Amino acid sequence: MDFAAADLHLAIAHHLLVFALAGILAFEIGVIRAGMTGKDIVRVGRVDLWYGILAAAIVLVGFSRAIFAAKGWAFYSHNMFFWAKIATFAVIGLLSIAPTLVILRWRRALKGNDAFVPEANRIRRARRFLWLEILLFALLPAFAAAMARGYGMMNL
Ligand code: HEM
Repeated sequence: MDFAAADLHLAIAHHLLVFALAGILAFEIGVIRAGMTGKDIVRVGRVDLWYGILAAAIVLVGFSRAIFAAKGWAFYSHNMFFWAKIATFAVIGLLSIAPTLVILRWRRALKGNDAFVPEANRIRRARRFLWLEILLFALLPAFAAAMARGYGMMNL
């Protein structure tokens, strides 16, 4: 496969993966809400597993693009918006731990008691984390567009 085709395929994969992750965040904030049921716990639990898989794939494809494709590592490693994007994505990953832990806790509680429903205060807390993730996620396309156009180059 020639270089241009590899670059194109990585770019397509990158976009599909980030849209899928945005979809998962939207799904989770839609399901984790006051009045959610045991069925909702099972649905969101399944989807949350995909959150981790997609995030790992985005890191893999993203770094492959930065190292092997388009402009080369020297360009990205000297670009402030590239590092802002990586740092923001890392913070989103850290924020996602809290909702994941509470979902696991609810799944365990549901196994022991079919009638279990999540506590209102834990739902509110998980939603706060999800909203923060969504807000930070919105910065990523802006950072990506700036870096792709050569803004934020650092003369190190
Ligand atoms: C570790 C994570 C990531 C890495 C290493 C990474 C890396 C890259 C690279 C190397 C490009 C090519 C830019 C160019 O054409 O010069 C790119 C483009 C892009 N990335 Fe990422 N990315 C990551 C995560 C994300 C995430 C989570 C989003 C979510 C919105 C995202 C959105 C975009 C967009 C929209 C572009 C296209 C920018 C444009 O051409 O205007 N990336 N990324």
